[in-house]
Amino acid sequence: MSTPLLITGASGQIGRWLLHALLRLEPARPLVLALRDPAVQLESLRRWLSGRGIAGPGLARLAAHPYRLEDTASARALVRELRPDTLLHLAARFEWGLDANEARRAQLQATEALWEAQTDPQGHAGRFVALGGYMTQHRPQLDKLGIHVGRPVDWQRIYRRIGGYEASKLETQFHMSALARRLGRPWLCVHPATVCGHSVEGELPAHAALYALCRQLLRGRLQALPGSPRHQLPLVSVDQVAGFLARLALDPQVRSGDFLLMDPASPPVHDLIRKLAGALGVRAPRLALPLAVMQGLLRVPGVAAWSGASAEGLDFLIQDPDFNTGPAEALSQRWGLPPTPLPQALAATARFVARDCARQPPGTRVA
Ligand SMILES: NC(=O)c1ccc[n+]([C@@H]2O[C@H](COP(=O)([O-])OP(=O)(O)OC[C@H]3O[C@@H](n4cnc5c(N)ncnc54)[C@H](OP(=O)(O)O)[C@@H]3O)[C@@H](O)[C@H]2O)c1
Repeated sequence: MSTPLLITGASGQIGRWLLHALLRLEPARPLVLALRDPAVQLESLRRWLSGRGIAGPGLARLAAHPYRLEDTASARALVRELRPDTLLHLAARFEWGLDANEARRAQLQATEALWEAQTDPQGHAGRFVALGGYMTQHRPQLDKLGIHVGRPVDWQRIYRRIGGYEASKLETQFHMSALARRLGRPWLCVHPATVCGHSVEGELPAHAALYALCRQLLRGRLQALPGSPRHQLPLVSVDQVAGFLARLALDPQVRSGDFLLMDPASPPVHDLIRKLAGALGVRAPRLALPLAVMQGLLRVPGVAAWSGASAEGLDFLIQDPDFNTGPAEALSQRWGLPPTPLPQALAATARFVARDCARQPPGTRVA
């Protein structure tokens, strides 16, 4: 039997579509999922996949083991026992309001432990694929925060300024690429833009940024357009990310590098909001407020919970995007992976959220 792929975070937004793509692409490879509650989550994933055309033999190739981001000793032991040729690490605490210690434990220390065990030259020296985020590739933002290779970085200040999730993503990328260079081992990381729903189904979880934005529009709780007409929320569809990751998982030649996944058709955020409002059949706000003002308002007690937005989330809006998507495009071309149409994915996303919100009783808490 061929060696397994090991995947963390398979129950998440990207992870489940990655499984779907892998089961369609690769007829034989066993897929081992590292999950918090293996028995319950494996059954739920099998039902989800079966509802999307994956038949019994594919579902039988899935196995699951217990895994917690915070338990680094067990994570190392699992990798050493299974010896996967490729480990895809998608699990993360993708949430606002994390304190620095929690965020570091869940992102940086969890990634380092898995990577260390998986790429150990004295062990089985397998491939490791990490998930970063597009902000780690945005040089103007790194400059603004004082993040430069070879110079000391004031991480405490950065955690205070941008919050635990984003700061820990930046610190993980910075720390791991430096460690890999120092030890002469590979570091392979995929950096998606903000992920929208599937281009046909539109499905995305309620904690996703675009879900929250559509829900705000539907409930009339977006009082102003954030930022200026130059601000952008870079986007990519979940099927594009899953298709890329699945092909990467099956291509043993790619062992290192940073690959940014961002749809070049991502509209400026004001246009995005108007398009989503149109698709949802509601009005977009006309007034625009500077990001700093909106963030200040969202920090007033009760405002974030009422509106369903968060000050931390607004940090993901950027001006003058300066990104290199060339390496990911070159690989996609080599694999024959076509782009998914973003306008179609956004319209499907809006339809999905409208249906999903209509199922929730009025007065449901939004934050
Ligand atoms: N979605 C985006 O817009 C986006 C953009 C850029 C980068 N990324 C990165 O892509 C990766 C996957 O994102 P996603 O959108 O799929 O996230 P997600 O939907 O929030 O899924 C997170 C996954 O991590 C697991 N997880 C959370 N806490 C855990 C813990 N303490 N121990 C073990 N597993 C835990 C979750 O398991 P449960 O199901 O048990 O909660 C779930 O499988 C993350 O690294 C994220 O930072 C995402």
